Amino acid sequence: MLTIEEKGSIVYTGSPKRRCFIIFLIVLGLLAFAAIGIVAGYFIGRNSAAKSCDDDDSDTKTQNGKFTQKQLEEINKNAVEMVSTEELRNNLKFFTKQPHFPGSNESLDLAKHIQEKWTEYGINVTMKKYIIMLSRPKKPGVVALYNGSDEIYRSAPQEKFLVPSENNSLVVPPFNAYAPAGSVRGKLVYANYGRNSDFDELKRLGVNVTNKIVIMRYGKVGRATKSKRARKLGAIGAIYYMDPEEYAKQGVDKVYPEYNWMPSTGVQRGNIKSTPIRGDPQTPGYPSVEGMYRLPKEEAMKLLPQIPVHPISYKDAEPLLRTLVRNVVLSNSSFQGGLDFSYGIQMAENDDREVLLNVTNELFEADVYNVMGVIKGSTHPDELVLLGNHRDAWVFGAADASSGTAAMMEVSRVLGEQLKKGWRPKRTIVLLSWGAEEPKYMGSVEWLEEYSRLLSARAVAYLNVDMAVDGNYSFRAKSAPLLDWVLAKGAMKVPSPLGNETAFDEWIRKIPSTMGFNYLPRLQQPRAGSDYVNFIQRLGIPIVDIRYTYNSKISSNPLYHTVHDNFWWMSTLIDPEFKYHQVTTRIWTQITMTLADSVILPFNVTHYGDNLKVFNAGIKKKFADDFKNYTMEKDLAYLDKAVENFQTTAKAFDAFVKGADKEDYAVVGRINTRLLSVERAFVNLQPILQANPLQRHVVLVHSPSISYNWYGGVVDAIFRARKGLVSKEEVKKQVSIVAYGINSAAQVLKLSPIE
Ligand SMILES: *[C@@H]1O[C@H](CO)[C@@H](O)[C@H](O)[C@H]1NC(C)=O
Ligand SMILES: *[C@@H]1O[C@H](CO)[C@@H](O)[C@H](O)[C@H]1NC(C)=O
Ligand SMILES: *[C@@H]1O[C@H](CO)[C@@H](O)[C@H](O)[C@H]1NC(C)=O
Ligand SMILES: *[C@@H]1O[C@H](CO)[C@@H](O)[C@H](O)[C@H]1NC(C)=O
Ligand SMILES: *[C@@H]1O[C@H](CO)[C@@H](O)[C@H](O)[C@H]1NC(C)=O
Ligand SMILES: *[C@@H]1O[C@H](CO)[C@@H](O)[C@H](O)[C@H]1NC(C)=O
Ligand SMILES: *[C@@H]1O[C@H](CO)[C@@H](O)[C@H](O)[C@H]1NC(C)=O
Ligand SMILES: *[C@@H]1O[C@H](CO)[C@@H](O)[C@H](O)[C@H]1NC(C)=O
Ligand SMILES: *[C@@H]1O[C@H](CO)[C@@H](O)[C@H](O)[C@H]1NC(C)=O
Ligand SMILES: *[C@@H]1O[C@H](CO)[C@@H](O)[C@H](O)[C@H]1NC(C)=O
Ligand SMILES: *[C@@H]1O[C@H](CO)[C@@H](O)[C@H](O)[C@H]1NC(C)=O
Ligand SMILES: [Zn+2]
Repeated sequence: MLTIEEKGSIVYTGSPKRRCFIIFLIVLGLLAFAAIGIVAGYFIGRNSAAKSCDDDDSDTKTQNGKFTQKQLEEINKNAVEMVSTEELRNNLKFFTKQPHFPGSNESLDLAKHIQEKWTEYGINVTMKKYIIMLSRPKKPGVVALYNGSDEIYRSAPQEKFLVPSENNSLVVPPFNAYAPAGSVRGKLVYANYGRNSDFDELKRLGVNVTNKIVIMRYGKVGRATKSKRARKLGAIGAIYYMDPEEYAKQGVDKVYPEYNWMPSTGVQRGNIKSTPIRGDPQTPGYPSVEGMYRLPKEEAMKLLPQIPVHPISYKDAEPLLRTLVRNVVLSNSSFQGGLDFSYGIQMAENDDREVLLNVTNELFEADVYNVMGVIKGSTHPDELVLLGNHRDAWVFGAADASSGTAAMMEVSRVLGEQLKKGWRPKRTIVLLSWGAEEPKYMGSVEWLEEYSRLLSARAVAYLNVDMAVDGNYSFRAKSAPLLDWVLAKGAMKVPSPLGNETAFDEWIRKIPSTMGFNYLPRLQQPRAGSDYVNFIQRLGIPIVDIRYTYNSKISSNPLYHTVHDNFWWMSTLIDPEFKYHQVTTRIWTQITMTLADSVILPFNVTHYGDNLKVFNAGIKKKFADDFKNYTMEKDLAYLDKAVENFQTTAKAFDAFVKGADKEDYAVVGRINTRLLSVERAFVNLQPILQANPLQRHVVLVHSPSISYNWYGGVVDAIFRARKGLVSKEEVKKQVSIVAYGINSAAQVLKLSPIE
C-alpha cells in the first residue's frame, strides 16, 4: 500500500500483484479527478502504467503521474532526511584510499565503481571517453642554489609524509601542470604575490626581471597569472611557495598533523595553464572525441606556459629568500612575509650564487572518462537538471574533490531509494562525474563541447559540488541570481550541523549579503574555480556551486592540493562526524528535487532584476571617474533603462505566473520556455573579452584585468582605455552590449510572442 507515514516517508507495502491493483486504483482515481478537470496533466503516464502492470514489468513504479505536488514534497523531504553521515564517511574513505590523478587508471577504477553503484541504484549509465593532452612530472622538479659549481642547497623531491596513510607510491611529486620542461639557471628576484602592483613596485625600485628567476608566494593572484606576468617581463623561470603568513597563521610550530596549517615541508600543486578557450589544447572549442580534428602538438603548445615553473615548500624557499638583500628602501612592507628574517628583493651585485630550476614535466595524451548517469524524467524528460562533481585529484583529494564525490554518491543513493519506491522526477536528472578537473576543467569542458547545442536547448541548471567540505565554518554558495532563492529555500529545509537552527540561518548569520539584500546570505559570483564556469559563461545555463567552507576572514584551506588533503585529515581535524558533509549533501538533494519536480521552474526573475539594479549602481560608482572622462551619461542612461525594462517585464511575468492555471500544460509550457531562455539571452553572440573569446555572459563575466565581479566586457575595456590601448568608443560599445543583453533577456520573458 502506498502510504504517507507520519514522519513523511513514503513506502510500499504488499506484494507486487497487490501493488499493481493499487496502482490501478490510483490511476482510476486520478482519471476520475482528471475527468472533473482538477488534475489534468498529471495522468500522462497512465497508459504505460497499466500496460507494465500487465507485463509485470519493473517499470510499474516509474510513473509519477500518481503523485500530487504535496506528495512530491514529502518524497523530497524523505530523500533529504535519508542522507546518512555513515554512508558519507564510507564513501569518502573509499574514494580517497589511493591517489587518483586525472586520467589515471585509479581514476578509471573509481569511474567503474560509480558505474556499478549507479546501475545498482536503477540509474542508466554511460561512460564518456575523451582524449585529452594532460601534464605530469617525469621526475621530481628541482630548485637548487649554486655557488659556482658547488651545490649549496637543493629542494626536497617530495613532500614529507606526516601520517602513515600518506606513504603511497602513487603520490605525484609537487609540480605545476603544463609548465614546460626546462633547465634554467640565473639570479633570483622576489616579486611578492606577483600582483601588477608588485611588479610595478619592482619597476619603481629599478629591479630588472629580465633573465632572472622570479620567486613568488601563492595568494592574491591566480597561479597561472603570476608566471605569465614574470615571463612578460623577461623572466626565464618562476618558483612558487606558500608563505607562513598565509599558510601557517598561528605560527610555524602550530601545523599539520596537529593543526590545520601548512607544515614546513608541504607543497601546493596546481595547474598554470590558462588558454583563451578552455579545455583540451588540441581541440579548442570542440570535443576531443575520436575523429575530431586536432591541432598539431607544436601549435597547441604555443598557447601553453612558456617558462619552467615549480612549487616548493617554505622550508625550501627560506634559503633562497635569504640570498636576497633589501638594497633599496621599500615604500611599504607588503613584501615582508611570515618567515623570521627581513625579506629582500634581489641578490647583491657581487653575489656569485645562482639558482637552478629544473622542470621535467611532460605532456601526454590520456583517455579521460566522464561518467554520466541518467534518470529519465516522467512528464518533462527533455528538460535536464545536471549535477556535476570532479572525480580526479592531485593526490588523495579528501576535500578536493572526493568530499564532493562522496556527496554525489549519497545523492544518487537516496534518489535511487525514491526510484525504488515508485518516484520518477518530472524532469530528467543527469549525474556527471568528471575525469579531469584539476588540469583546468578538462573533463567537463570536453563534455560540454560535445553536447553544447543540446544543452543550450534543454539544460535547466547545472548544480556543481567540487569540495563538499573544505572547512567547517558555514555553508556557502556561488550562484546565478536566477537560482539564489532556490538555494536559500533549500537551505531553509536543512538543519545546521549543530541542529539548533537551519543551515540557512547559520549561513545568513555568518555570511551576510554584500548586495544590500538583508533577507538573503551572500551569494558569491560564479566567476571561476570549478567545472560550473563554462556552463554559465559559455552557454548561459544557470549554475550553483555549493560547499561547507572555512571562515574567509581567517584563511583558505591551507592544505589544499597537498598530500595532506586526505581521509585522516578530514575525519580527524575537519569533519569527524561528517555533519558538514551531510549539510552540503542534503542541500544538493533538496535543490535537485525542487528543480526536477516543480511544475513551474523556480527561477526568480524579479530577483535577477534587483541584482541588475545593484550591478548598475556598483559599476557607475566604481568607475565614476572613467565614465566622467568619457562623457558617458547617455550610454549609462541607456543601460539603466534596460534594467528598468527588465524589472518591469519581470514584474508582469511574475504576476502572470501567480494567476496562471498551473494545471494547464500549454500555459505551463509558455512560462517555462521563457524561464529557460532568460539566462541564455545574456550570452552575447560575439566575444566580449579579448583574452577569453567564449566567456560571453555580458552580466556575470568578470574582467581578467581589473578585479571586479560583473560586466567584465566593460571593465576590461576601461582597463585597456586607461592604458591607451583602445579609445573611449570601446567602453561605450561595451556598455551598450550589456544593455543589449539585458533587453534581450527582457524580450524573451515578455508574454506576447513578439512585439
Ligand atoms: C593502466 O592500465 C593499463 C591496462 O592495465 C596499462 O597498460 C597501463 O600501463 C596503465 N597505465 C598506467 C599509467 O599505469
Ligand atoms: C662561494 O665560493 C667561494 C669560493 O669557494 C667562497 O669563497 C664563498 O664563500 C662561497 N660563497 C658562499 C655564499 O658560500
Ligand atoms: C614508506 O613506505 C616504504 C615501503 O613500505 C618504506 O620503506 C618507507 O620507509 C616509508 N616512508 C615513510 C616516510 O614512512
Ligand atoms: C603597499 O604596496 C602594495 C603593493 O605592493 C599596495 O597594494 C598597497 O596599497 C601599499 N600599501 C601602502 C600603505 O602604501
Ligand atoms: C633589463 O636587462 C636586460 C638584459 O640584461 C636589458 O636588455 C634591459 O634593457 C634591462 N631593462 C632595463 C629597464 O634596464
Ligand atoms: C638539471 O637539468 C640539467 C639538464 O637536463 C641536468 O644536466 C642537471 O643534472 C639537472 N640538475 C639537477 C640538480 O637535477
Ligand atoms: C533507462 O533506460 C531505459 C531504456 O531507454 C528506460 O526505459 C528507463 O526508463 C531508463 N531508466 C532511467 C532511470 O532513466
Ligand atoms: C546555535 O548555536 C550556535 C553555537 O552555539 C550559536 O552561535 C547560534 O546563535 C545558535 N542559533 C540559534 C538560533 O540559537
Ligand atoms: C573545524 O575545523 C578546525 C580547523 O579549521 C578544527 O580546529 C576544529 O576542531 C573543527 N571543528 C569541529 C567541530 O570539528
Ligand atoms: C523572488 O525574489 C523577490 C526579491 O528577492 C522576493 O521578494 C520573492 O519572495 C521571490 N519569490 C520567490 C518565489 O522566491
Ligand atoms: C580622467 O581625466 C583626467 C584628466 O585627463 C586624468 O587626470 C584622470 O587620470 C582621468 N581619470 C581616469 C580614471 O582615467
Ligand atoms: Zn576541485
